[in-house]
Amino acid sequence: MSILNGQTALVTGASRGIGRAIALRLAKEGAQVFVHYHHNRSAAESVLGEIERPGTLLQADLRSPREIDGMIAALGDAQLDILINNAGIWGQTPLGNTSLEDLDAMLDINVKGVFYLTQACLPRLREGARIVNVSSIAGRTGTRGGRSVYAATKAAVDAFTRNWALELAPRRIRVNAVAPGYIDTDMTAGYFADREVLEFAVSRQPFGRLGYADEVANVVLFLCSPASNWITGESLNVSGGFVV
Ligand SMILES: NC(=O)c1ccc[n+]([C@@H]2O[C@H](COP(=O)([O-])OP(=O)(O)OC[C@H]3O[C@@H](n4cnc5c(N)ncnc54)[C@H](OP(=O)(O)O)[C@@H]3O)[C@@H](O)[C@H]2O)c1
Repeated sequence: MSILNGQTALVTGASRGIGRAIALRLAKEGAQVFVHYHHNRSAAESVLGEIERPGTLLQADLRSPREIDGMIAALGDAQLDILINNAGIWGQTPLGNTSLEDLDAMLDINVKGVFYLTQACLPRLREGARIVNVSSIAGRTGTRGGRSVYAATKAAVDAFTRNWALELAPRRIRVNAVAPGYIDTDMTAGYFADREVLEFAVSRQPFGRLGYADEVANVVLFLCSPASNWITGESLNVSGGFVV
């Protein structure tokens, strides 16, 4: 039996990468999935095309509270069993050389967007719903390359996860996060296009490779399933042992 039959899920940033893999994995287990995207409608349509049952596309720039409100209105009277806060951006913000605009760009989606969207979804979350936030190992380790703001946004996501787990426990809503290491997606493609950078990163990986989006999606499925019934407020490393 498919473990998510009859359940409804909203996955942000589901057009590509980790979000795409999560949307497909949840749909394979029977969930009806709302596939959110920002710019890339054709990629989002192709995700829907791979899902065997009807799904729905939702478009919004998650930096904009107005667009988030519009997206929530587009849900009609739908209730949600699962919310996956996945959409996010990565980038360099070297100390001493970062504008306020660059700072805001990252905070607006990775922190404020996650908070505002979750708050907007609250009235629609069924008792016993699950929220999974996509964090990063960057939120809990030092990283190279002047990415302190990205790291701070993911530390904030971990803090949301712990605190929301307690706030939402009276509604039996579980809140957890996954913290991926380096995953092979569009987000990291430019960075790893430099062969030396790729070889260095892989040399530090215990299994000698980058991770795959499907490997993150499998852990998200676990956190959405009854098998993780007694887990809430946790952020699980999904890094192939890069962070232990
Ligand atoms: N890849 C990694 O190594 C890695 C490691 C740790 C954590 N993560 C985290 O995992 C999550 C997904 O990463 P990914 O690698 O799958 O990224 P990705 O391949 O770059 O995909 C990003 C997704 O987010 C959406 N998005 C970007 N900006 C948005 C905005 N302003 N409003 C709404 N949606 C927006 C994109 O929509 P469009 O397609 O429409 O542009 C796309 O669906 C992120 O939170 C990231 O920080 C990734």
